[in-house]
Amino acid sequence: MTMRTRSLGTTGPQVSALGLGCMGMSALYGDADRAEGIATIHAALEAGVTLLDTGDFYGMGHNELLIGEALRTAPPALREQALTSVKFGALRGPDGSWAGYDGRPAAVKNFASYSLQRLGVDHIDVYRIARVDPDVPIEETVGAIAELVEQGYVRHIGLSEAGAQTIRRAAATATVSDLQIEYGLITRGIEQSILPTTRELGISITAYGVLSRGLISGHFSADRRLGANDFRAHSPRFQGDNLRHNLTLVDELRKIAEAKGVSVAQLAIAWALAQGEDIVPLVGARTRERLTESLGALDVVLDADDLAAIEAAVPADAAAGERYPAAAMEHLDSER
Ligand SMILES: NC(=O)c1ccc[n+]([C@@H]2O[C@H](COP(=O)([O-])OP(=O)(O)OC[C@H]3O[C@@H](n4cnc5c(N)ncnc54)[C@H](OP(=O)(O)O)[C@@H]3O)[C@@H](O)[C@H]2O)c1
Repeated sequence: MTMRTRSLGTTGPQVSALGLGCMGMSALYGDADRAEGIATIHAALEAGVTLLDTGDFYGMGHNELLIGEALRTAPPALREQALTSVKFGALRGPDGSWAGYDGRPAAVKNFASYSLQRLGVDHIDVYRIARVDPDVPIEETVGAIAELVEQGYVRHIGLSEAGAQTIRRAAATATVSDLQIEYGLITRGIEQSILPTTRELGISITAYGVLSRGLISGHFSADRRLGANDFRAHSPRFQGDNLRHNLTLVDELRKIAEAKGVSVAQLAIAWALAQGEDIVPLVGARTRERLTESLGALDVVLDADDLAAIEAAVPADAAAGERYPAAAMEHLDSER
């Protein structure tokens, strides 16, 4: 298979049309198998995936160390094709608690120094604050990353979960390659004002939650038991009546997927790919099996009738439950 590529922004790098989100290999979806995570990264690179997404706070450095090991143990040609996309700024406690965000310029440079070491690289390809720090003007945070670009430690500047006004301010400060934000069949909020803004400004979307964290993957069931260290145990969309309702949407998607001879996950990922050349889905596969399924989405062709059938089965506002618990929603500049 030859991997298709897409550009991150009008001036950003060419990346594989699907990126690999590595978060679940370390944290937030319950226990993960480190060796399988590394094998999944190697398999992704072999398949032509170039974009590896992480955050320095995923397992408090664990995810960057894991990616660093995967890069070190990959054949040199594959290592060289890998592009790292790193989020910073989330403050954690030793017990894993969350303590807000820090986007001050000195903090930005401090975070970057540690990430470079953990990843074992001399530069980060795309660097972004995970959540806009309400106490620091975005111009200062982005300006600090721009200095890292000038110094060669960072190649491109990204944003994460920023709203339209913040995107404009950031883009007026420096060239922004992409906005990382939740976007998928049952998470369509960005279509109102954020997507028109990024399109006007030539900024791409690296979309996470394309499978709504597994909810619309076709593999999730109402009787699945989630540990306390699993984000989904606390996510409104995975609770009680919300979960039962959301799984009925999956049943509708399954009918369309089966008629096309593809899996539900492949249909959902193909839908995101079909929303525009500026959309790069980050798939959260943490096993080689899930990765293979995800990559199969690249071969799924959705015509206008398919897209209309999907839209009819799952209208834009069909999901029950917010995409984050209330406390986490408060940190989303994109929801203001
Ligand atoms: N900027 C931000 O605020 C932000 C927030 C969240 C994530 N992210 C980034 O985006 C990446 C992707 O996000 P996500 O993990 O929420 O995405 P996702 O792809 O919607 O969900 C991944 C989950 O779906 C399940 N799944 C079932 N079938 C799958 C398949 N064929 N391929 C992949 N996953 C499948 C996985 O299952 P199992 O439980 O079976 O492993 C995993 O728990 C993350 O790794 C992270 O790098 C960014």
